[in-house]
Amino acid sequence: MIKLIRGFRDILPGQVELWQDIESKARVLLENFGFREIRLPIMESTELFARGIGADTDIVEKEMYTFPDSKGRGQTLRPEATASVVRSYIEHGYAGSDPVQKFYTIGPMFRHERPQKGRYRQFYQINAEMFGVASPLADVQIMYLLHLFFTGLDVPDVVTHVNSLGCPECRPKFREALISFVSDKMDRLCSDCQRRAEANPLRVIDCKVPGCKEAVQGAPSIQDHLCPDCKEHFQAVIEGLDDLNVPYEIDPRLVRGLDYYTRTTFEVQTTLLGAQNAVAGGGRYDGLVKVLGGKETPAIGFAVGFDRLAALLGAEEKDFTVPPALFIAALGEDARKIAFGWLCDFNARGLRAEMDYEGKSLKSQMKQANRFNAGRVLILGENELQNGMAVLRNMNTKEQEEVALDGLTDRVAALINQG
Ligand code: HAM
Repeated sequence: MIKLIRGFRDILPGQVELWQDIESKARVLLENFGFREIRLPIMESTELFARGIGADTDIVEKEMYTFPDSKGRGQTLRPEATASVVRSYIEHGYAGSDPVQKFYTIGPMFRHERPQKGRYRQFYQINAEMFGVASPLADVQIMYLLHLFFTGLDVPDVVTHVNSLGCPECRPKFREALISFVSDKMDRLCSDCQRRAEANPLRVIDCKVPGCKEAVQGAPSIQDHLCPDCKEHFQAVIEGLDDLNVPYEIDPRLVRGLDYYTRTTFEVQTTLLGAQNAVAGGGRYDGLVKVLGGKETPAIGFAVGFDRLAALLGAEEKDFTVPPALFIAALGEDARKIAFGWLCDFNARGLRAEMDYEGKSLKSQMKQANRFNAGRVLILGENELQNGMAVLRNMNTKEQEEVALDGLTDRVAALINQG
């Protein structure tokens, strides 16, 4: 038997209904906030991610699925969507027409990480990006939207952590302070951190290895190194969140795993998914459009980890199958023909109805109706055919009524629509 590749998985019926529900709520909310859908390829040139996400990040260093094309140029399955959205924003000249744009995109991402609970090599994100607004109002609106999304879905146990990562003005000073702090703790750091402590010391304070976590206790805080403009921006974001009653925790240790962030960064975290505690993450990336060849354009966005969100809502324990409204049990060839016509009529009207196609006994058809968990069963046997009446049984109340064959689909559809 050919099996799934490690780290990849099927989202099966029963779970998929939950995914569809989450997705449709996300679309409605994002569109209410003025975000428009953008559909992007899942493969881009490797350089886009190397430049966009940063060469010293885990993603670019070791997690990308990269293949050469026929001319030997690197192409990569996207590990995230932000760089692609920025590429598209630049490529289609949005900055020239109206630099303020809001996009969302939903789809699979690929990272060659070690698979574990909540961590897959193909996973899905709901991604939103807003371009052209430097004001902290954008940060507040983005975080408010995310808050509404999570509360609207009743997601248990989530807390939004927020921080500022400063700007090209203040970050270098923080970096220096951090480098000097870790320089005498090198022997306590993991090999990854030892290697990149100089190039990317922020990664060290984000490292999940217990020894590193311990070594960086008491490390300098970015909050103490923000320049006046970044401080003011952060303060305005915090006040805006307070005004809208968005709960948050200020977390000076939140650094995120991608290099493009400036100023506001945030993560929605949970304790319910073990080591994989982030359900969504995002922030400002005011420098990225320029880094990728566009005009200087402020931008901010987030991505929700769809798989982790679905897991928090019970995707792996509960069955989200939506039962059919009706099961038609027909006995005998003539009855089955009529029943099939009804089935097609109900389905065309938008009612989920099922029947037995094989001519099974009434007993096994009733079993089938129970397996489907159908709301009602319509029974048509030879007697019913002769009397011109079918029997409609409500499977919840167990009440039965007779329905005339003439005009039956109208009457049954009306009853089902009444509830
Ligand atoms: P990220 O933090 O790398 O950010 O990913 C966002 C979310 O995707 C994470 O919080 C997590 O829920 C989910 N995720 C990441 N890796 C995996 C995995 N291997 N398996 C399952 N879920 C995963 C970004 O990707 C940024 N592009 C977000 C952003 C948008 N920033 C600004 N705009």
